[in-house]
Amino acid sequence: MSQQVRAVVARSKGAPVGLETIVVPDPGPGEALVKVEACGVCHTDLHYREGGISDDFPFLLGHEAAGVVEAVGGGVTDVAPGDFVILNWRAVCGQCRACLRGRPWYCFNTHNARQKMTSADGTELSPALGIGAFAEKTLVAAGQCTKVDRAASAAAAGLLGCGVMAGIGAAINTGNVGRGDTVAVIGCGGVGDAAIVGAKLAGAARIIAVDIDDRKLATARRVGATHTVNSRETDAVDAVRELTGGFGADVVIEAVGRPETYRQAFYARDLAGTVVLVGVPTPEMQLELPLLDVFGRGGALKSSWYGDCLPSRDFPMLIDLYLQGRLDLDAFVTETIALDEVEKAFERMHHGDVLRSVVVF
Ligand code: APR
Ligand code: ZN
Ligand code: ZN
Repeated sequence: MSQQVRAVVARSKGAPVGLETIVVPDPGPGEALVKVEACGVCHTDLHYREGGISDDFPFLLGHEAAGVVEAVGGGVTDVAPGDFVILNWRAVCGQCRACLRGRPWYCFNTHNARQKMTSADGTELSPALGIGAFAEKTLVAAGQCTKVDRAASAAAAGLLGCGVMAGIGAAINTGNVGRGDTVAVIGCGGVGDAAIVGAKLAGAARIIAVDIDDRKLATARRVGATHTVNSRETDAVDAVRELTGGFGADVVIEAVGRPETYRQAFYARDLAGTVVLVGVPTPEMQLELPLLDVFGRGGALKSSWYGDCLPSRDFPMLIDLYLQGRLDLDAFVTETIALDEVEKAFERMHHGDVLRSVVVF
C-alpha cells in the first residue's frame, strides 16, 4: 500500500519550487521508508533546481535529513522500524575494489532505492542525491540509513548527512589534523565552519579562518577559529605565514572551490604540510602551479569527497560527541522553517546570512 505525503518538488529548470502531494511506495527488498523529522536546505538543492546537476526534472529535493524508520523491505537487517536514523547519499556496496581496499568513500556501486516515488499524476520523481527528504516520508535504500542515538535533535543530526560532515571530515578524515597542529581554513561558509569545528575536535592548537566577508569571519570565530584573516584586505598567504612564525599551516583546508583560493592554500601551508580541497570546482576551472613548487614543498595535496566519511563509523561517533556537549551542531542551525518555506530559504542563502535553514516537520 503506497502512501500520499506532502513534498517539495522542483518542476522545471530555474522555476520556484512548490509543495505537492506525492505517492511513496512501500519499501521493496533492501529499502526503508523513513518518516522525515528534519531536513536542512543545502546549496546543492538550489543547484538541482537551477538545472546545474542534471536535467532529470521533476526533482524531489532535500538530502540533509534525519528521521525515524517506519517500515523496511525484505532482507533489511541493519535498521528496523522505530530506529532514529541519519540519511546519507552514498550507501556503499562493501564489495567493489574501492570498498575492499578500505576506501569505501570511493565506492563504484553506491545505491539508492530502486522503486520510484511519483507525483499524484503518476510522473516519476527524481530524488535529489537519491534521498528526496523535503517530504513527510521518503523511500531510500536501507544502506542510506545510519542509526544514531535518539536523544539528538533531528535538526542537528540531519546536518551530518551532507555539508557539516563534509567539513568535519575534511579536517579529521582527509586532513588528519592532529593535536597541536595549526590549521588554516579558506572560505568560511557552512563547510568551512564545519572544517573549523573538525579541526578543533582533532586538537588543533591554532585555527586560522580566511574569508572575504567579515560576517563569515565573526561566525568562524564563534565556532572555534582562533585567528581571522580578511583576504580582501590582507594577502592570505602572507597573513597565515605571519601567524605561524613564517612557516605556514600544517593543514590548509580550501572550502571555496576556486583556483585562486586553491593557490592560496597551496602556498599557505608549511613545507610538507597538507592541502585539502573540499570546495567543489566547476568543470572549466584550471589550475597552474610551478612544478618546482609542487616538488619542493613536498607534503600532500588531497581532495575530500563528502568528508571521506563512512556514515556507519562517523555518524554515531559525532552524535555521541554532540550529546556530550563536545560538538556544537546546533550552532549550524540558523533557523528552523516549515516545509513550504524552502523557496524563501533559497533566497536567504543568496544573501549569505544563514549557515543552515532546516525544515522541521
Ligand atoms: N576567498 C576567501 N573566501 C571566499 C572567497 C575568496 N576568494 N570567495 C568566497 N569565499 C567565501 C564566502 O564568503 C563564503 O563564506 O567562501 C564561503 C563559501 O561558503 P558558502 O557559499 O556558504 O558554501 P558552503 O556551503 O560552505 O560550501 C563551500 O564546499 O562542499 C563544497 O560545494 C561546496 O564548493 C562549495 C564549498
Ligand atoms: Zn563499493
Ligand atoms: Zn548538501
